[in-house]
Amino acid sequence: MDRSEPQLITDTFTDVEAAAAVLRTGGIVAFPTETVYGLGARCDDENAIAKIYQAKGRPSDNPLIVHCASVQEVARVCRQVTDTAKVLLHHFAPGPLTVVLHRQPWVSDRVTGGLDTVAVRIPAHAQARKLIQATGTPLVAPSANQSGKPSPTTWQAVWEDLHGRIDGVLMGEPTQFGVESTVVDCTVSPPCILRHGGLTYEALAEVIPDIDPGLVQGELAKRSPGTRYRHYSPTAQVVIWEIGQPFDENEQAAFLGLQAPAEIRQWPYVMEYEEVADYMRGFYEALRQVDRLGIQRVYCQRVEAIGLGKALMDRIERASAP
Ligand code: TXA
Ligand code: MG
Repeated sequence: MDRSEPQLITDTFTDVEAAAAVLRTGGIVAFPTETVYGLGARCDDENAIAKIYQAKGRPSDNPLIVHCASVQEVARVCRQVTDTAKVLLHHFAPGPLTVVLHRQPWVSDRVTGGLDTVAVRIPAHAQARKLIQATGTPLVAPSANQSGKPSPTTWQAVWEDLHGRIDGVLMGEPTQFGVESTVVDCTVSPPCILRHGGLTYEALAEVIPDIDPGLVQGELAKRSPGTRYRHYSPTAQVVIWEIGQPFDENEQAAFLGLQAPAEIRQWPYVMEYEEVADYMRGFYEALRQVDRLGIQRVYCQRVEAIGLGKALMDRIERASAP
């Protein structure tokens, strides 16, 4: 889908009430959550939802997550909150969890991409929750990036991608998790993880021991449209790097990881994170910074795909896909 030409005046807000007023009257406003910044619209406003797809250049069959302030609100969007979903929401909401359930008939095809299911989440972030409450309806909100780019973890990154295309940005702190929510399909038994994210498989499995950790690629693409598209990609080439792998001695590139080898300390951009959680929190912003600096290639250290490492490796692999 083509992106529209910039033609809006984008306001920056510190006041939740002011941002909610714009949403109530059909505007689209970006806001912080604990995962990444989202681009919000009222979930019952077809025109505003269409503007989201336009602003991002998002394929129209890629459905949106409905952000609710409470479990009661989830029940108004979904035909039935299944027992599994109840258990998951009880343990992990509010937080970086999205559940997929059958939709209520009033939820439009524009939200669900024509599916008979809807993805719902209750964010933990205080500004996000206040914004939903002040608007008075749940908010649909994809990540507030230009489609295909790394998701924004700062309001400045939202501005970089979308100013002139959206009505406003509610300014907040950099986000806590730095990758998106974990999406769990609760319409199947056992429930199945469609996207790894801020809530780990291990934490989910403590509560639902038979939860399916994920489908093989082809099947996943049918059930979770977002996984079909190229994602999270900077302009720079992303290369997965393993400890011990040598570098070309003439190369000047960027490095992200847990241990930077001594021979690359002089590179123009080297980010060494203490823990996987820090690497994950900083990952998208680091990719953006590599592009701002005009660096052509970024080496990303592989981490073990356990705990948060699963979501991080998923994003690194997608970013590095040709
Ligand atoms: O953390 C997050 O989830 C962030 C913040 C803003 O809340 N939002 C986010 O939205 O990442 P987005 O639109 O970038 O990703 C939504 C993902 C996509 O992969 C989409 O295909 C999937 O959720 N999805 C949405 N509705 C679905 C449905 N009914 N069935 C299966 N997958 C669905
Ligand atoms: Mg996204």
